[in-house]
Amino acid sequence: MARTIASIINGRPAEGPPGGRVDSPNPSRLADVVADVTLADAATFAAACTAAKQAQLLWADIPAPVRGRTVAAIGRIVEANKEPLARLVTRELGKPYAEALGEVQEIIDTCDFFLGEGRRLYGQTVPSEMPDKQLFTFRVPVGTVAVVTAGNFPVAVPSWYVIPALVTGNTVVWKPAEYAAASAMALFELIQAAGLPEGVLNLVFADGPATFGGLEKALQSGALDKIGFTGSTAVGARIGELAGRHLQSPCLELGGKNPMVITPSADLQLAVEGALFSGFGTAGQRCTSLGTVIVHESVHDEFLAQFAAATSAASVGDPDQDVLYGPMLDRKFAARFEEYLGWIQPHHKILGSTATGRISRTSTRAGFIGDPEEGLFYHPTIADGMQPGDALFQQETFGPIVGVTTYTSLTEAIGLANAPGYGLSASIYTNDPREVFSFRRGISAGMVSVNNSTSGAEAHLPFGGNGKSGNGSRQSGVWVLDQFTRWQAMNWDYSGRLQKAQMDVTQIAADLDFRLST
Ligand code: UN1
Repeated sequence: MARTIASIINGRPAEGPPGGRVDSPNPSRLADVVADVTLADAATFAAACTAAKQAQLLWADIPAPVRGRTVAAIGRIVEANKEPLARLVTRELGKPYAEALGEVQEIIDTCDFFLGEGRRLYGQTVPSEMPDKQLFTFRVPVGTVAVVTAGNFPVAVPSWYVIPALVTGNTVVWKPAEYAAASAMALFELIQAAGLPEGVLNLVFADGPATFGGLEKALQSGALDKIGFTGSTAVGARIGELAGRHLQSPCLELGGKNPMVITPSADLQLAVEGALFSGFGTAGQRCTSLGTVIVHESVHDEFLAQFAAATSAASVGDPDQDVLYGPMLDRKFAARFEEYLGWIQPHHKILGSTATGRISRTSTRAGFIGDPEEGLFYHPTIADGMQPGDALFQQETFGPIVGVTTYTSLTEAIGLANAPGYGLSASIYTNDPREVFSFRRGISAGMVSVNNSTSGAEAHLPFGGNGKSGNGSRQSGVWVLDQFTRWQAMNWDYSGRLQKAQMDVTQIAADLDFRLST
């Protein structure tokens, strides 16, 4: 049964004219509507930021260790609700249940990491160049944060923003993807159960234009101090532009065209397993999904044969069953994926399934689990013979398609891996340490895997990319603290006189002309 849900501002359902309604359907059974969502308009979005602004000073006054205990409580509440939350993620986004459980675990891991941060949030005491004076640094919250997230990781990635933002004393307006609304509402309710005061976390459902308009209004009125955004490179660039006009630097986590280099010394079976998981897991809809395999020409044929066989044999279908992947997240991703399939060229050799495009009663896939007609299921596609000028090589293609190309020297492989201009995650399969470090040095990616796939980052290492994948901001671990706090420097002169820095500094005379007489 569909649940009717609406934005929550200051602990209450949003008032004001709605910005329309949308359904959030189950992508593996489209007839099952998971939520009926009331969308907010731009003014309501901006009002949420104002509410967050009003709540911020009081929240920041709560001692950080106490905020840390609230984060601990969020972790325990999510843990106690792990299975129902994962089941909802599977129903609303079509993620296989095992993966959905992993996603919920990522929230718990994030809380476990940050609960102690409330007791650290270290600043420094720094020696002064003058006597009777002391220097200090403090981390201060940035203020109010708008978090705009995609639906491919409907609960884990939002927690990467919300949890560190809260523990460091910020208040938050979270705008999840409309097609992930029920999962977002469930996480919101779990977080609220930890006892957050009203206005500290606000949830707004809105479409793209209303969100953009709301961000603009809130920035203009001074009610918004930081934007965190996970989504496409194109939208990220617009958000960066908007934030820049207000002298802010957003935290951007954008797309990827993540390469996997397979060298002659690689364990090919391991590489095939990694390519299968990162190419087709979550139906290729992770920002860390594998884009192009760049395989040494001497092992290309063997790799391709094994990869095609493994892909053809992989189970696709009902995400409640044991499958490699389920449906596309939403109709709009299915439609866009069909456009990407249109980029296949005559020089590409297609492997991995019995057909390309949507799986149906007429376009069947052997071993499909469930009824393909009920949802948005697509054949896995391997496109061999990729060339650097091909659109499929250049652009992120959010969906179950993997390109394959060859190289002769590692320098060439690194060049091919960097060529599309993204820089999120990159992987190399090799047993040669020199290749590992040459690759690490040469690759533009923010995250590098060795003998592991491009997906599956752990929740306490810096997550983020460069180039078209982001503006260098990093989430997770201690690194995200620099997104949600600013350094404040304090100096305290207790000498009772004005001591001028650089000028009133004691000099110890040194004989710089001194040389050993040997
Ligand atoms: C994303 O796709 O936005 O590394 C995040 C991974 C996951 C997170 C992906 N832990 O694949």
